[in-house]
Amino acid sequence: MSESLLHRAACIEDMKILTRRRIPRFAFEYLAGGCNAENTLRQNRQALDQVYLHPSYLSTSAGADLSTEVFGQQYAAPFGVAPLGLSGLIWPKASEFQASAARTANIPYVLSTLASTSIERAAECAGDNFWFQLYPPSDLEIRADLMRRAEAAGCRHLVVTIDVPAAGRRPRDIRNGLAVPPKISVDSIAQTILRPSWAMATALQGMPQFASMMPYMKNMTNLRDIAHYIRTTLKDVVDFPMLQQIRHAWSGKLIVKGILSVSDAKLALAAGADGLIVSNHGGRQLDAAYPSISALKEIVAAVGDRTVVMVDSGVESGPDIARFLAQGAQMVFAGRAFMYGVGAFGEPGAAHTIELLRNELLQVMEQLRCPTPYQLPHYLL
Ligand SMILES: Cc1cc2nc3c(=O)[nH]c(=O)nc-3n(C[C@H](O)[C@H](O)[C@H](O)COP(=O)(O)O)c2cc1C
Repeated sequence: MSESLLHRAACIEDMKILTRRRIPRFAFEYLAGGCNAENTLRQNRQALDQVYLHPSYLSTSAGADLSTEVFGQQYAAPFGVAPLGLSGLIWPKASEFQASAARTANIPYVLSTLASTSIERAAECAGDNFWFQLYPPSDLEIRADLMRRAEAAGCRHLVVTIDVPAAGRRPRDIRNGLAVPPKISVDSIAQTILRPSWAMATALQGMPQFASMMPYMKNMTNLRDIAHYIRTTLKDVVDFPMLQQIRHAWSGKLIVKGILSVSDAKLALAAGADGLIVSNHGGRQLDAAYPSISALKEIVAAVGDRTVVMVDSGVESGPDIARFLAQGAQMVFAGRAFMYGVGAFGEPGAAHTIELLRNELLQVMEQLRCPTPYQLPHYLL
């Protein structure tokens, strides 16, 4: 771990503060914000804070090992990088940096359909650790082509996100002109001028794009047209029959993201899913949503013995990852936390975030005297 980065950012919150200072406000608020009054965002935090772990100081167990197996693949830690759209708005090449760091650290990396790095490039960076998140386009040919490209790039884990039947209403994005249609205002130009290193990096790299979707948007250069195209192409609701169709067409592992109820968990499994990600989209879609940590407990109790239950929404530290694992998750994803690393430091920030979370989680497990992530449920109070 880089000592100089550690002195500047000893925890995720430090990197969030640095990111706020280094990127324009509209980009920071796009990343940090939630929907409506941001209740779900706050509830994720509050619910996690209510989970207590109790140590077993006098046990005879020795050391702690973070390695974890999911879907028959061995990873170095029980956490991974969640998919984030328009990643290049936070920092140019953010997804490439994260994918490469995930490969080096041997943790899963999930690329969003709407990331600013293409499927092919991200797969090159992430290697065997590459997972792809699909927002299924209504155009069946484009849907099939995205899946074909992912498979050709070596992807064996397809994550289908089901919790965006409607676009999230995020007041900060609406005010900042980041909604559809996007609006470039004098204010956003002023914000950019105040963040010269971001402006310079972005100028060198070009405006962030929906890189995997570019082949289907020929001759489209206008921001307004691109946003409209994305909105209409990805407007389809993922229902049970669509999930069955995707299952039929995908021979690798199928993972359904956005599960918050036992009934949806059972339907996803009935459609043929191999795994679930319990998630409320980090509080960006429904402002009256159940916190992931609460839903997780019920879903693990109902279907945990017959599928791989994973989770995200609200991870800000190693103790948070331990809380989710203690509640029965087999893999924990974080979205914003990883982006704060890159927002704060660019490329080195990707590895720094993984190292921070790894060391924090290791510390919690050693403190509890818990030898493996699988045993964390025994330490739940
Ligand atoms: C800026 C931003 C963009 C996101 N874009 C996507 C996306 O394209 N696809 C998706 O499935 N989830 C997306 N998510 C949700 C994340 O995958 C994940 O569920 C969420 O960030 C977890 O919460 P956390 O940020 O508190 O860790 C996005 C989240 C953020 C913050």
